[in-house]
Amino acid sequence: EKGGYKHFMLKEIHEQPQALEDTILGRVDGITGQVRFDELENFSLETVERVIITACGTACHAGMIGKYSIEHLAKVPVEVEYASEFRYRQPLLNEKTLVICISQSGETADTLAAARLAKDSHARVLSICNSMGTSLTRIADWTLYTRAGIEIGVASTKAFTCQLAVLFLLALYLAQQRKTIENECILYQVQFLLTLPRQMNELLKISDHIHELAREYYLYHDFLYLGRGVCYPLALEGALKLKEISYLHAEGLSAGEMKHGPIALIEPDVISVVLLGRGITGVKTLANIEEIKARKGKVIVISHPEHLEVIPPVEKLLVIPETSEFLAPLLLIIPLQLFAYYVALEKGSDIDQPRNLAKSVTVE
Ligand code: F6R
Repeated sequence: EKGGYKHFMLKEIHEQPQALEDTILGRVDGITGQVRFDELENFSLETVERVIITACGTACHAGMIGKYSIEHLAKVPVEVEYASEFRYRQPLLNEKTLVICISQSGETADTLAAARLAKDSHARVLSICNSMGTSLTRIADWTLYTRAGIEIGVASTKAFTCQLAVLFLLALYLAQQRKTIENECILYQVQFLLTLPRQMNELLKISDHIHELAREYYLYHDFLYLGRGVCYPLALEGALKLKEISYLHAEGLSAGEMKHGPIALIEPDVISVVLLGRGITGVKTLANIEEIKARKGKVIVISHPEHLEVIPPVEKLLVIPETSEFLAPLLLIIPLQLFAYYVALEKGSDIDQPRNLAKSVTVE
């Protein structure tokens, strides 16, 4: 049932190119760039003034990344909040608010409570869900399914990348409805989206290489993950993967916040995993590498090819294939998932059933 893989998590990491292809299939026209969702009948964003995305854990990280493309492409303000916070905050909602709830299982207690609260406040609720016919999809006005297939490993991997793909398609869809971007820009993004599954397949070939890297680093105790822009929530996700299954201390940080405190942590035994996305946010993060090196911290860089010439010498440099700024997280996440997996493997932890965790958190 694990298809020759030692753990479901590793199998599911490798299933991502196919899951992504399935999730995109039929939803975008490669020639016109037109996005269509059969599920969104009677859906119009004309009266929507703001979007709130709410979810837990990995699903919330996907939402935080989705905010960038929805705001940039569809020009509608987006807030993102953990469902456990949202539900107790008495948020200001009305019929002009679109609340997007993201969940792999569709049964997470806090996300369900957030969806119910939104409905009771007359907001419109769109769910992004991986499991069919769940409590969340019953509450929601509309549901967009991720087509990741069943995810068994407790650490979410393929559901996350499919959530990113649906959010990105939704950003394009809303941009088309609201006529907020040029067709040329849509086509540019769509071309990159359609090449992602193939690029992800290529990237997965570095698996053995990452295993080597994990062997070098699994005995360290502290890992900082740094990024800006879309790479900030990705840093949170990379750190979450490592802590969940390897039980190591890992923190995701906004690279720009380093100098306001966290830089005090840097010393030779602290490993910094620096994420360089495409564009200005990647360029700005280069300075962090210099600052960490100056304090003798160890640095692993995962970068978009754009910055190759200007990255200072570091312990390890991994490069992803070329893509757009908003899609880079779908590739940058692959080495992060593999690193977490192989570190946990070296440490001998129970990868598919990590201690203290359940696949679906149905109690508060
Ligand atoms: C992390 C992980 C959890 C879930 C969270 C939400 O690997 O699996 O953080 O993402 O519990 O679960 P769903 O998406 O089922 O609502």
